[in-house]
Amino acid sequence: MIRTIDPPDIRNLQRVGAPNWSEFQAAGRRISRQLLVAILQEMPQFASGGMNVLDFGCGCGRVLYPMLELLPDHHFHGVDVDQSAIDYLRTQLPDIDLRCTDFQPPLPFTDQYFDLVYSISIWTHLSPPDQMTWLAEVARVTKKGGYVFISTSSYSALKARKLRGDPGWSQVSEDDLNRRGVIFIPYAVTGDSQDVWTPGITADYGLTVNSPSYCSENFGQGMQVEKVMADHIDGVQDLVVLSRRSLG
Ligand SMILES: C[S@@+](CC[C@H](N)C(=O)[O-])C[C@H]1O[C@@H](n2cnc3c(N)ncnc32)[C@H](O)[C@@H]1O
Repeated sequence: MIRTIDPPDIRNLQRVGAPNWSEFQAAGRRISRQLLVAILQEMPQFASGGMNVLDFGCGCGRVLYPMLELLPDHHFHGVDVDQSAIDYLRTQLPDIDLRCTDFQPPLPFTDQYFDLVYSISIWTHLSPPDQMTWLAEVARVTKKGGYVFISTSSYSALKARKLRGDPGWSQVSEDDLNRRGVIFIPYAVTGDSQDVWTPGITADYGLTVNSPSYCSENFGQGMQVEKVMADHIDGVQDLVVLSRRSLG
């Protein structure tokens, strides 16, 4: 089905780093194709349809829209803490299960509900303890045999943050990332600007980098780390592939 979609408020676009609707759509198309390549490598059975899929942190649908176009035969669900993004998406996708959820677990789904969970540009903002808490929760809602795809920032993102002069990142080196494995610098947002830029976020939030070896060693949390695909998402985020393939 080809869907006709209206753009959301410019603030919703800006919160996912898109300056305008056409760049939002172009990025979504690129990222969804990159994601699908990785999914089909691991799960060729995904081509046949009928599976429960979760977009964790769907925002205003940048990746969800093209995923629905590419994969019309699956049952998609989307969650986000941003009520305005979910309200907007519900007007555009009345047939999709979309929920505004809490910043901390649990998700409103039963154990082992999903065949596939994907999450683009969420772990790139979570504090190290929240990364671990959410990995365990995502494992809970993933079926035995199911897969989870999570994007993370590492060396390329670190380089870009240093070039851009993002606050606090100029002093962080690749050696620091190798040594520490994960580095998190919270955003300095408070009060009104918190409501505008990070609605629904009720704990630490900022920019995070994870080294691929840290992800391989620590992201299991009830799952098996299959691989870390360096720079797979738009050349700036790694894609961590996890499964409940051989775990009880
Ligand atoms: C950078 S945006 C990415 C949105 C979308 N995945 C995309 O690629 O366009 C990060 C999103 O994660 C959401 N988010 C952050 N923490 C969350 C959490 N604990 N649970 C659900 N959503 C969360 C934010 O509200 C925001 O919409």
